[in-house]
Amino acid sequence: MSDQQARIGRWVRPAVQALKAYHVQPAARTIKLDAMENPYHWSEEMVDAWLARLRQVELNRYPDPAAAGLKTRLREAMGVPAESELMLGNGSDELILLLALALGGAGKTVLAPGPSFVMYRIIAAMAGLEYREVALRAEGFELNLPAMLAAMEEQPPAVVYLAYPNNPTGNLFRREDIETIIERAPGVVVVDEAYFAFAGDSFMADLTRYPQLLVMRTVSKMGLAGLRLGLLAGHPDWLAQLEKCRLPYNINVLTQASAEFALDHRAVLEEQSARIRRDREGLMSELAAIPGLQPFPSQANFIAFRVPPGRAGELHGALRERGVLVKNLHGSDPQLADCLRVTVGTPEENAAFLQALKASL
Ligand SMILES: Cc1ncc(COP(=O)(O)O)c(C=O)c1O
Repeated sequence: MSDQQARIGRWVRPAVQALKAYHVQPAARTIKLDAMENPYHWSEEMVDAWLARLRQVELNRYPDPAAAGLKTRLREAMGVPAESELMLGNGSDELILLLALALGGAGKTVLAPGPSFVMYRIIAAMAGLEYREVALRAEGFELNLPAMLAAMEEQPPAVVYLAYPNNPTGNLFRREDIETIIERAPGVVVVDEAYFAFAGDSFMADLTRYPQLLVMRTVSKMGLAGLRLGLLAGHPDWLAQLEKCRLPYNINVLTQASAEFALDHRAVLEEQSARIRRDREGLMSELAAIPGLQPFPSQANFIAFRVPPGRAGELHGALRERGVLVKNLHGSDPQLADCLRVTVGTPEENAAFLQALKASL
């Protein structure tokens, strides 16, 4: 072992040494259906109006640390209850990190069902929290409520994450199960509504019933992934604590101005999401009609599907060869054996994906 390796081995936390860095697939010259992005951009006219707005931004000044104007628009757009407080993050990833910083420390636990969003685990490891996972039921990827409750008893978690709908399975868990978990949790429960624009249900209004509930959202999936903006809504007492861990200027001036502009044109974003929801149904029936494939019902802007045994890696590669990038879920969790995940794209992209998939099969 070199001196350098020995030094690293001595000083970098073992949990960090054991981590694999989050991998993003190279995407040049491909139809990119791997990251749940909205495939639509804006009209020329709207882009011009946006650029005109950006001309007024003062890059020499720090951003408004409270992002007051943006928060007002987000409250309105997201239906945040008046009595709830709001905190913004550089993507919801940063909010997950802030929660880990505020609630973490030796002996603290994060609990989530699995498979779920990988950053819950990665960030817990980064921040030195123990991550515990309770397997979803094989049938319909529902929560295993008795097992979740038993896990909470056995090792009380500081935070429970429930993605609603869940990534990468795409389903909404049963609302009653989530309510029971919120009622019985010893710490906070974060309902992660990253895909709310496609879901048709939300816990935002339930914030007024449950002071231990936090609802997290992002603008990423509604067409603004490049901005990096997430929000956490919840009881002011909790948010006051979490705010102390937020770096003062975490939402930059370009993000604040652009997000305000986009929310002034909410109808455009909502129309895009509605189109994606409609196209999801078409894509679902097309996938279901291909012999040997099993797509799973989705309330998000992506569809996970099982391919014939042993072929996920090969098909993922064959699709990439044909210029279509999807996510290979095989190997990430035993319940996702032989599974791929595709984001709903434009009708043209979906057709190209289906054609490439059929040809590869
Ligand atoms: C469930 C879930 N939460 C949060 C995120 C991250 O969102 P953001 O882009 O705001 O960091 C994702 C991204 O894929 C997700 O699937």
